[in-house]
Amino acid sequence: MLRFYTAGESHGQALLAFVSGLPAGLRIDVGAINHELHRRQLGYGRGGRQKIEKDQAEIFAGVRHGQTIGAPIALRIENRDWENWEKILPVEASSAPEASSRKLVAPRPGHADLAGSQKFNFHDARYVLERASARETAARVAAGSFARQLLAQFGVRIASHTIQVGHIRLDRAAGWEEIRAICEDLESSLRCVDAQVQEKMKTEVDAALKAGDTVGGAFEIVAHGVPVGLGSHAQWDEKLDGKLAQALMSVQAVKAVEIGSGILAAGSYGSEVQDEISYDKKARKFQRGSNRAGGLEGGITNGEDVVIRGFLKPISTLRKPLGTADMVTKEPVKAAYERSDWCVVPAGGVAGEAMVALVLADAFLQKFGGDSLAETRRNFDSYGRQIDEF
Ligand SMILES: Cc1cc2nc3c(=O)[nH]c(=O)nc-3n(C[C@H](O)[C@H](O)[C@H](O)COP(=O)(O)O)c2cc1C
Repeated sequence: MLRFYTAGESHGQALLAFVSGLPAGLRIDVGAINHELHRRQLGYGRGGRQKIEKDQAEIFAGVRHGQTIGAPIALRIENRDWENWEKILPVEASSAPEASSRKLVAPRPGHADLAGSQKFNFHDARYVLERASARETAARVAAGSFARQLLAQFGVRIASHTIQVGHIRLDRAAGWEEIRAICEDLESSLRCVDAQVQEKMKTEVDAALKAGDTVGGAFEIVAHGVPVGLGSHAQWDEKLDGKLAQALMSVQAVKAVEIGSGILAAGSYGSEVQDEISYDKKARKFQRGSNRAGGLEGGITNGEDVVIRGFLKPISTLRKPLGTADMVTKEPVKAAYERSDWCVVPAGGVAGEAMVALVLADAFLQKFGGDSLAETRRNFDSYGRQIDEF
């Protein structure tokens, strides 16, 4: 139903995003898109690139008079760094010395450099790393903002917070309001709900910087107000937990995904894990005393908050480089270094929020359909009555 693509190289002219499948009549707040883009640029442990860029979305198609018109949406985010790269990465063939000045032949272990160069038959990882780079997540975040704006119309909101940086973990659960507040706190260095734990996390980031190293971690995303019944148990590829896991895993450097208390559950008894069900006769509502399932049972949302975590490896560009083999000479060398972040957990969380929004919006439109927002709303309201009367 809802599809999106991105295009663009990290140091190319711009990033592009295409979104299609949104109903007509959805009011679009461009300021909200730019706000999400700004949030993606924040976080303690980011490299110099964020000082150059000031990401802003320019919409070219699919939105007129402030609302969607049922046509595909196209948008662009300019790369300010392009002026430094125009001669290095020109679109046209070039014999200028700059055009071969930034070849990368010493592949970084953990990056896409070597596998991508072998696959596409380049003896220069530049083309591969330009597209593998997480600069691409800016386009996802802009696309995701459309999905968020649709979901918000139906009371669904999404937020993330940092739960781990390196060896430092937040060892308590956080409530929705707390997460929402920290998510919007643009002053927060690592977007951790506990100020003391955050200070320890910052020390971990500082230690990595000092050692010429990098540090990973984890973020948790919560989708609040999700109606019961998105996704389906009926086919493997309709299961919403599977779709969410794939979407989050596709964020650069995410190497594991957990839904609810999935990892803890694997080492527990069934009686310790399942969320008991009761019925509130006054509110005429089923409810659960806990949410260890993370809002998903059988690949279907159950009306509780959807809770999903992404675990990021430490990124692979190290100032103190690891050993590698030169792609041309085949001799042992040190891996290439170029300007890089050293901790990206909060930014990874913002990219993850966008992916969760896009998957939930797609599932939402599969369930409720509608070529116009008014039609989607009628379907949603009618289903709401069915649930109330169940
Ligand atoms: C927000 C964000 C920023 C990133 N910045 C960098 C970076 O500056 N340098 C780097 O080597 N990797 C960075 N990465 C990770 C790489 O893009 C990623 O490791 C690489 O594309 C290989 O993909 P994989 O780790 O998913 O296998 C970043 C990831 C995210 C989510």
